[in-house]
Amino acid sequence: MIAETEMFDPRHYEAVRRPLLDAETLPVWCYTSDAFYRREVERIWHKAWNFIGAADRLRAPGDYFTITFAGVPIIVLRDKEGELRAFANSCRHRGSALLEGEGHCRLIVCPYHSWSYHLDGALAGAPEMQQTHDFAPEDNALIPLALGSWGGFLFINFDPDAAPLADYLGDLPDKVAPYQLDQMACARRKEYVMECNWKLFVENAKESYHIATVHKQTINKYASAKSSGYWVEEANGEYCITFAQHEGSMALLKGDGGFPINESLAGRREAGGTTAPLIYPSTYLACTNDCAWYLELHPLGPTRTRLVHGALFPKDRLTRNDFEDVAKNYYKRWDITIEEDIVASERQQRGIDSPFARPGRFSHREPLVHEIDNWILDRVLDR
Ligand code: FES
Ligand SMILES: [Fe+2]
Repeated sequence: MIAETEMFDPRHYEAVRRPLLDAETLPVWCYTSDAFYRREVERIWHKAWNFIGAADRLRAPGDYFTITFAGVPIIVLRDKEGELRAFANSCRHRGSALLEGEGHCRLIVCPYHSWSYHLDGALAGAPEMQQTHDFAPEDNALIPLALGSWGGFLFINFDPDAAPLADYLGDLPDKVAPYQLDQMACARRKEYVMECNWKLFVENAKESYHIATVHKQTINKYASAKSSGYWVEEANGEYCITFAQHEGSMALLKGDGGFPINESLAGRREAGGTTAPLIYPSTYLACTNDCAWYLELHPLGPTRTRLVHGALFPKDRLTRNDFEDVAKNYYKRWDITIEEDIVASERQQRGIDSPFARPGRFSHREPLVHEIDNWILDRVLDR
């Protein structure tokens, strides 16, 4: 393994910087080393707008959920006025985590010495602090974090100087506007913990080369790379995007019944395919013609990643009597193919974690793997 002091010297990455068909894949330490991971946390996760799921998870004032994102424990909640807010999940007294899991509360009460906070973060009570000199409640509110929303999705940013979410997304909202994502509801959320570096799963999600092998019995039967194209389209923003043309829904296995095509796509090319952006660094979104889904990644360490899959359907599908019965076909397709991709990514991690593993070469079907890897290098390397 390369020395940590050497690791971020651009000279080691010259081969990745070449055009796709002359380039090599990232050095293997990018997928295994603690130092490379720590640099990604500092320069990517703590700077980017990070996707944290669908806003409809917080329906009523007082609803909250907690997550630890790239090592930072946070609370996301809907306050009394209905406004969505995010805070560091750290008590202002002596730092205890305040809330766990998800739930509903009217006041946030610290489980250590019972300091309490209103849902807007203001300190509500601090027992027996009267004798403490110059103790100012207004200086002891929860630390707020930047929270943005688009299309019914939530994003957090740990960088107080970050540009707005709208700048980050660029023209992505226009590109996926026909799908009316904000008119969809998240019907199921499923979590996995994967024993692999986050980049392996992201790279997999944005290349069609593996479909013929890994998804031979599933996706390949109705949307093979050759028949569907998977064209890379132009992107102006912190994302990349593909469009695949195919019959039927990308979210069903061949022969399974589903919901009608999304009415908002009538007469558009989107009715006959799937638009799939990857919002950098790691949020995969797939908008097919009858539903959509997201893949949210939380980095847990150099070789461990939490994956959340969210299933999105137009809201009125959820009120149909047959919703659960029909939705089962979609869940089956997602469960099978996600498992196929996790197995492939974890197997790749095992092969890469070897003193004999070497960078490889790209096929013409992996332009976005190359693009994602270069986006990462633009941020983590020394200049
Ligand atoms: S750490 Fe929260 S009240 Fe003491
Ligand atoms: Fe896949």
